[in-house]
Amino acid sequence: MSNTINLTLHIWRQKNLNDKGRFEVYKAADIDTDMSFLEMLDVVNERLTKEGKEPIAFDHDCREGICGMCAGVVNGRPHGHLPQTTLCQLHLRHFKDNETIVIEPLRSKAFPVVKDLVVDRSAFDRIIASGGFISVKTGAAPEAHTVPIRRENAELAMDAAACIGCGACVAACPNASAMLFVGAKVSHIKLLPQGQIEAQERVRKMVAQMDKEGFGNCSNAYACEAACPKGISVSTIARMNKEYFAAKLTE
Ligand code: FES
Repeated sequence: MSNTINLTLHIWRQKNLNDKGRFEVYKAADIDTDMSFLEMLDVVNERLTKEGKEPIAFDHDCREGICGMCAGVVNGRPHGHLPQTTLCQLHLRHFKDNETIVIEPLRSKAFPVVKDLVVDRSAFDRIIASGGFISVKTGAAPEAHTVPIRRENAELAMDAAACIGCGACVAACPNASAMLFVGAKVSHIKLLPQGQIEAQERVRKMVAQMDKEGFGNCSNAYACEAACPKGISVSTIARMNKEYFAAKLTE
């Protein structure tokens, strides 16, 4: 049987990039605890719309923890307090009745606020476009085991490929570093045989683009790993650094 709770929401409202922005307070009354965080925002927005007010803008798509579109900061934590859970998969049963919740956009110079909780994460797209792909023709799907891959590498590549590019790592990092994201992308391609041909060029270009976008450096705070909804390990950063230094030495 589901219960209901009442919440007080302090939500960041910002008209556009040039607006200074401010917190506004909203009441979310009698919310079903089986609802997700985004469904609760839907209920608040429905009420705002009926009152003729501007609904709260927030990003979402799959609502299944797959696409990486949702990514608000809840009480100071990207995606909220539940480990390895995206905001769309965070349910209200994990909050207390009469709780006050502060909701903000991901904060980073490289992620300018578009509106309210929506930020522009196209910096990630440009990093991927700079080299996060395999350009050799791989043809149709080959017979399994045609290309031998060490089991350990296959597992590590799959773990790194779990990154959904939500940007929580950047918002959690005291330096607004994107190294967990780039480390995951570099790792998952480099660990597989098809990705090795362009490995050096790829890591050089992706790191250069990351720096150009204004992301900070890693200082081993591990905040990115703690905030990542997919549990991407900081060991991907170490792998990227190793690849990068090797690539620079042979440049
Ligand atoms: S909406 Fe797709 S991961 Fe949350």
